[in-house]
Amino acid sequence: MSTFHKDLIDCYTKDNFYKIQRLNPLVFQYTQGITGKALDLGAGKGVNSKYLSDRGFEVTAVEINPEAIKMIQRQGIDPQWEDIRELMWSRENHYNVILCLYVFQHLEDDDIIKVVEQMKCSLKKEGIMIISSFKAQSNRFSLENLAHLFCGDHKFKIFVKDNWKRMDVSHGNLHYHEGFYLGAKKTCV
Ligand SMILES: C[S@@+](CC[C@H](N)C(=O)[O-])C[C@H]1O[C@@H](n2cnc3c(N)ncnc32)[C@H](O)[C@@H]1O
Repeated sequence: MSTFHKDLIDCYTKDNFYKIQRLNPLVFQYTQGITGKALDLGAGKGVNSKYLSDRGFEVTAVEINPEAIKMIQRQGIDPQWEDIRELMWSRENHYNVILCLYVFQHLEDDDIIKVVEQMKCSLKKEGIMIISSFKAQSNRFSLENLAHLFCGDHKFKIFVKDNWKRMDVSHGNLHYHEGFYLGAKKTCV
């Protein structure tokens, strides 16, 4: 078993909280060795925010859903109740880590482009952003569309990108979910 997978399993089992609420493995894998300020856009229940906060990050968790806001507060994190499309979280060269995980399936293509541009602007030099999304029938935004927003921008290096498809038997009949993820680092300002 690789060190990465052993560490990940240890992380899930030593604290039931992480096991139940599913820390995103990409967050675990790619934020090692980074500290500072983290922005979690569409933070949901706040599990990724809580993990980064426990790691010593100063976390800004942004959520639109008041029920999710209460859950984030229960993690001891002070969330910002905002629509990420309003870009109130945007600050130039400010964050070391920016997450936007499983949120874009809720947004229109034009809003995704606007949000990604502000994420790029808000990232510090050497900072990383991780984006993942389900593929929703209602929007056509793809991994290729997302990667295109970084192509030809010499400030960014994509370090991971892929499509995924997973079987789900947790609710209803067996079905599949599809999505994609991308991680990019800001190499200069
Ligand atoms: C599928 S959940 C993902 C939660 C978390 N990022 C994770 O990966 O576990 C999507 C979250 O995005 C939030 N969301 C959707 N649209 C949003 C928007 N425009 N502004 C802020 N949050 C939004 C939803 O309320 C929901 O909590």
